[in-house]
Amino acid sequence: MATGTTTLSGVFPLGSRINERGVLEIGGCDALELAREFGTPAYVIAEDDLRARARAFLAAARAAGQPDLHVVFASKAFPCTAVLALFAAEGLWCDAASGGELHLALAAGFAPERIVLHGNAKSEAELRMALRHRVGTIVIDNFDEIERLQGLVAEGALGDRSEGQPVLLRVTPDVRGETHEKISTGQANSKFGFSMADAPAAIERVGESRGLELRGLHAHIGSQLLELGPFRRAGAELARLGEFPVLDIGGGLGVQYTAEQPAPPAIEDYVGAVVDGVRDGGFPSAGRLLIEPGRALCANAAVTLYTVESVKQNVSRWVAVDGGMSDNLRPMLYGAAYEAEVVDRFGGSTDCVLAGKHCESGDVIVREARLADPRPGDVIVTPATGAYGFAMANNYNGVPRPPVVFCRDGDARTVVRRESFEDLSSRDVA
Ligand code: LLP
Repeated sequence: MATGTTTLSGVFPLGSRINERGVLEIGGCDALELAREFGTPAYVIAEDDLRARARAFLAAARAAGQPDLHVVFASKAFPCTAVLALFAAEGLWCDAASGGELHLALAAGFAPERIVLHGNAKSEAELRMALRHRVGTIVIDNFDEIERLQGLVAEGALGDRSEGQPVLLRVTPDVRGETHEKISTGQANSKFGFSMADAPAAIERVGESRGLELRGLHAHIGSQLLELGPFRRAGAELARLGEFPVLDIGGGLGVQYTAEQPAPPAIEDYVGAVVDGVRDGGFPSAGRLLIEPGRALCANAAVTLYTVESVKQNVSRWVAVDGGMSDNLRPMLYGAAYEAEVVDRFGGSTDCVLAGKHCESGDVIVREARLADPRPGDVIVTPATGAYGFAMANNYNGVPRPPVVFCRDGDARTVVRRESFEDLSSRDVA
């Protein structure tokens, strides 16, 4: 991961390096050339990194002693057709949390039986769509949804199917992982799922529903979790709620955003902990176990490239780039930390604030960046932007969303084009 004296932090995509010209390379592509060819800001993905992580999860699943264990990509982390198609081809399953994500998953080529539909507020139209496409699993969140599904079944939404729609019930096991409050979901007072107290009644009600086939339970305790204990406890709690053929332990394995942050547990240790947990609770090795990683499959596969527009010195040195909270909301929403470097002068020592172009003081990408004497025109990279960056991108201040560029063996191709100004008004009807 290095040439000369510059060592790249492990948060960059696999195979990244500083090339002979002293420039960052992602997937064999020179970052300055990428910026010139595709413009900035741009999401740049190392295709091999996505594949390697998918394969690492699948290898860990195979080694875990739970033959019917499936890796379900939480598509919300990077809902981009090319990413979904790559994961489908690698053999992953897909978690969709809305009709839109279901549409993308089907279009990307996931077999319907490998799709898990989530959501705490699914509409009748979304449920109808899932039933029409014969989605493999619907995860029921609440009593109203049970009734809604019963109604749809009664009016014939199952068509000529002889078997009922397989469903799981989402429960909240009251296991809290250490993470940002906005992405913690396992606590009792959560908007997601049935409480432990309500779970028995929900199990009974679905069990009595003609046309719904209760296969098991689901829990997702939170996201960006760096300790394995909570996963193990949640698995055990879930398994103790009853004997079911299927358990789904959700996602949540954290990643490293900056070199200073602790490294996350290895993928095989995470999968091992989930399996140990459900076994503790009595789940048999023949049972079907689903895990739903999102971030851990894609965060570190991508970087964002920006161009410096201005550099200003007052109390701080403000380095303003051509993107910001429209392409990466995470610093704003969760106070998330990122690294930044000038792509052809790594290892700088000038203290800077890397700011976005949006009309808010909070639009800061990296609060404490150390850059090598940044100047207008320099190309800046922030690594680890593959998860929930593209996903939560927006058009604040009329800023078009960036393209997604896949890089592999020195070849780069656009898989999502940059938004245009015309796109911004393309939905106007008057
Ligand atoms: N399964 C379910 C039911 C989920 O709700 C989520 C994430 C996942 C799986 C995947 O979690 P992951 O493995 O990615 O942690 N926008 C936030 C993250 C929100 C996560 C919501 N649910 C962020 O940027 O940190």
